[in-house]
Amino acid sequence: MRYLPMAALLLYPAWGQTELDVAQGKGIFRNNCAFCHGLTGSGGRGPSLISGRFLHGSTDEDVKNVIRNGVPGTTMPSFDFETAEIDHLVGYLRTLAGSAPKSAPVPGDPAQGRQVYLRNGCSSCHRIGMEGSVFGPELTRLGASRSPDYIRESLLNPSADILDDYQGVTVVARDGKRTGGVRINEDTFSVQLRDVSQNFRIFQKDEVREVIHETKSLMPAYNSLSQEDLQNLLAYLVSLRGDVNAGAHVNKPEGVR
Ligand code: HEC
Ligand code: HEC
Repeated sequence: MRYLPMAALLLYPAWGQTELDVAQGKGIFRNNCAFCHGLTGSGGRGPSLISGRFLHGSTDEDVKNVIRNGVPGTTMPSFDFETAEIDHLVGYLRTLAGSAPKSAPVPGDPAQGRQVYLRNGCSSCHRIGMEGSVFGPELTRLGASRSPDYIRESLLNPSADILDDYQGVTVVARDGKRTGGVRINEDTFSVQLRDVSQNFRIFQKDEVREVIHETKSLMPAYNSLSQEDLQNLLAYLVSLRGDVNAGAHVNKPEGVR
């Protein structure tokens, strides 16, 4: 939903003159960005935008480039806004900068957190840099792409927000044998999944008894970790800011600032 061009004309009688309209920027933000960056910009499926410091560059031009081009290889989409719209939007983002609770770093010890990660078998489903499995989503850039609150929720209550590309499906064969995994593809006749051993499996629907679409996450909830382990693990996950352009071959996965 976009506002009417009419409104823009009323607000900009002087053609070509861009006067920042923060309220308008806020409207654009709510309609297009809040879904991932949170209603107040403090983050969610996307990173927080309220610290005033941006990973992809902090000048107005940098931020505008990200909005126009998206971040390839991530869920940050590209937007086709008018110049004035982008100006308002960035003007609004600038007003958020002050609203950050003074750079609250995530407490905890990332190095200890890495041990918690390894002890709990996270890498049997996740990849960080070159290490681990691709059954679940890659976590190489997790700290750059999600807010700490969102990450915490992902651990304690994974089913609260299941990523579209990682919906679970269970196929029940005629003999009752069940095969579960991440749904890769599905049409009227067949369903493809990736099982936990990272094998692709294809099933013809008329050859199986049932195809169940799971409403629970394929990830177990980690709600019995000690407070200390949880905090350290969170500090580790938030520190993961590997280079997105390196794709799977990321060489700086840990503790990168
Ligand atoms: C579908 C989810 C989604 C939507 C919608 C979305 N973003 Fe993003 N955005 C992301 C993700 C994920 C990232 C982190 C990309 C990465 O890994 O670097 C991001 C990154 C950014 C960044 C860079 C942050 C930094 O630290 O450099 C800016 C700025 C940004 N988004 C602004 C916006 C604006 C403005 C809108 C609306 C016009 C928007 N985003 C809509 C998901 C989204
Ligand atoms: C049995 C496989 C499995 C194990 C073990 C597992 N996960 Fe997951 N995880 C998944 C899957 C599948 C998803 C995606 C589905 C969802 O969003 O719930 C996911 C999602 C996540 C997300 C959200 C990712 C994002 O981009 O939003 C985080 C964070 C995460 N896992 C961290 C961990 C950590 C840390 C551990 C170990 C303590 C762990 N996982 C153990 C399968 C697993």
